[in-house]
Amino acid sequence: MNKPLLKAEGLNKVYRTKSGADFAAVRDVSFYLQQGETLGIVGESGSGKTTVAKMVAGMIPLTSGTIALGDKSLSSTKRIRSVRRSIQYVFQDPVSSLNPRWKIRDILAEPLKLYFQLGAKAIDSRVDELLDDVGLPREYKSRYPGELSGGQCQRVGIARALAAEPAVIVCDEPTSALDMTIQAQILDLLKNLQQKKGVSYLFIAHGLEVIYSISHRVMVMKEGQIVEEGETKHIFHDPQHDYTRSLIKAIPRIDIPPFQ
Ligand SMILES: Nc1ncnc2c1ncn2[C@@H]1O[C@H](COP(=O)(O)OP(=O)(O)OP(=O)(O)O)[C@@H](O)[C@H]1O
Ligand SMILES: [Mg+2]
Repeated sequence: MNKPLLKAEGLNKVYRTKSGADFAAVRDVSFYLQQGETLGIVGESGSGKTTVAKMVAGMIPLTSGTIALGDKSLSSTKRIRSVRRSIQYVFQDPVSSLNPRWKIRDILAEPLKLYFQLGAKAIDSRVDELLDDVGLPREYKSRYPGELSGGQCQRVGIARALAAEPAVIVCDEPTSALDMTIQAQILDLLKNLQQKKGVSYLFIAHGLEVIYSISHRVMVMKEGQIVEEGETKHIFHDPQHDYTRSLIKAIPRIDIPPFQ
C-alpha cells in the first residue's frame, strides 16, 4: 500500500457539556485516506461523524490522537496556512454556509486572496474557471446566495473549497438538504471533479444509499466508534456487523406494484 495521504490514529473527543459532565463523542477512531480516494463515513445521527470531520479539518481540537497529512502533523488546531489550505470543508446546509451579504464573486475571491495573494485580474479569471468547474454560469458571480437555489449554493460551496486547491475535501452531508435529483447531480459533480483534480474526499452521510455511489471505502460509525470498515462492495455484499446490516435494510427502495 502507498503511504496514505491522510492518516488519523486513535482519535478521541470528549465534550464538556454545559452541565459540566464529560461526553465521549468519538472513541479511538483510526483511518487513512489515499490520494484521489473517497472514504465514506456513515452512521446514525449523533454517532460522531461531524466531530471526526471537524477534528480532521482543524475546526475543533482533539482530546487525544494524531492526524497527519503526508509528513506533516495536524494534531494541533494551530495549523500553518499551507496546511489549512490543504483541507477544505463543504457544509451540510449550503445556504447558511455562504455569507448572504457577499456576492458569489467575493465568496470565491476570499480563499484566492488568502492562500494565493492573487491580483484583481487573476482573481477574476480564477472565479470564472471555478464557476465553469462546478457547472454554474459565469454571470452568477454578480448574484447573492439568496438569488440561487439550494443546489446552486452547494455548487458555490464546492467551488469555494476548490479555490484553495486542497488535497482533501471534507464533505459533511453535502447533499442531505437537497432533493433527490439535485443530490444525484451534486454527487456526479464531486465524482467528476475528483477524476479531473485527483482530490480526496472524506464523505459523510446518514444513510448508505448516498455513500454507495461515491465511496471507494466505507467506515461505519456507531456511538463514537468504528464498527466496521472496508471496501464499499464488501460492506454492501458481505456486512460483518448487525448495525451495518440494519443500515443496508434502511436503504429506501420503491416497489412499484404490477400494472392492473
Ligand atoms: N459542542 C458540543 N458539546 C457537547 N456535545 C456535543 C457537541 N457537539 C456534538 N456533541 C455531541 O456529540 C455527539 C456526536 O455529535 P456529531 O455532531 O459528531 O454527530 P453526527 O454523527 O455528525 O450526527 P448527525 O448525523 O446528526 O449530524 C452527539 O451526541 C452530540 O450531541
Ligand atoms: Mg453531523
